[in-house]
Amino acid sequence: MTASNPLADHYQRGLHADEVLAQIDAHYPAGPTLHQLAPLDQLHIGGVAASARLLNLLNPTTHRQVLDIGAGLGGLMRQGASLGFQLTGLDITHGFSALNRALSSRVKQLSTPPLTWVTGSASALPFADNSFDAVLFQHSLLNMPDATRVIAESRRVLRPGGQLVMHEVVSGPNVAQLRYPVPWAANSEHSHLLNLSELTRLLETGGFQLEHVDDWSEMALAWRQRQRQKEQTPRQAVLSPQWVFGDRFLTMGKNLVDNLAQGAIKVVEIKASC
Ligand SMILES: C[S@@+](CC[C@H](N)C(=O)[O-])C[C@H]1O[C@@H](n2cnc3c(N)ncnc32)[C@H](O)[C@@H]1O
Repeated sequence: MTASNPLADHYQRGLHADEVLAQIDAHYPAGPTLHQLAPLDQLHIGGVAASARLLNLLNPTTHRQVLDIGAGLGGLMRQGASLGFQLTGLDITHGFSALNRALSSRVKQLSTPPLTWVTGSASALPFADNSFDAVLFQHSLLNMPDATRVIAESRRVLRPGGQLVMHEVVSGPNVAQLRYPVPWAANSEHSHLLNLSELTRLLETGGFQLEHVDDWSEMALAWRQRQRQKEQTPRQAVLSPQWVFGDRFLTMGKNLVDNLAQGAIKVVEIKASC
């Protein structure tokens, strides 16, 4: 499925899963913690703290069955499982789903609830109607050219009263100045940023009631600037986004800072219900 998928090629081009796992086994023989994995498996702006904030919008007692759409390497999934959510991770990049699963098996403190991994597309979710209490998007809608269909699919698999939660990149007022590459796209081909009004309108016309819309851009810029300083310090981190993107990440990381600082992109959080 992935051989003819150019988006998967973008994400898998620099990824050597065996080397990543060997690095983890060599440095964390008793199994890594979620924080130790975070530089590798939280492939979004804001890291573990952003995921904690996002998960805090949901209650595992009332919204336990959660679908993470575009789960990547699964940092959010494992963090959610540690809070009592039952997570299914869907991703179109099969190499990510496979490594996500392998990483989960190494995190020793992660026993329950169980996690599920599925390779598939957000445009045609391989799940029955009304099968989840909540769906999450974390820096994944930004890759999807057919947001209307993806939102309709999310609505279909959610039960009545279900929640949709997003931590997404949207276009800013100066989107014409957007610099590539960024982690989600080498060029404009795979970048499908909506602006915030377009996104909220699509959600409302797709049958969702907005409960919370927040602009995280300032926090995102401050976080990314701190990361950038670390990336420039000549010290070998055990894990980093370079294990996924290779040396391309040095330019990607710089471009993220510039794009946020210049208002080409914004980072937003949305909670909506159906
Ligand atoms: C920037 S990564 C973010 C991964 C993860 N959510 C995180 O924050 O660490 C975007 C992810 O969305 C996935 N993705 C993009 N388009 C998709 C689609 N149409 N269906 C399923 N997954 C998709 C990509 O394969 C990739 O793993």
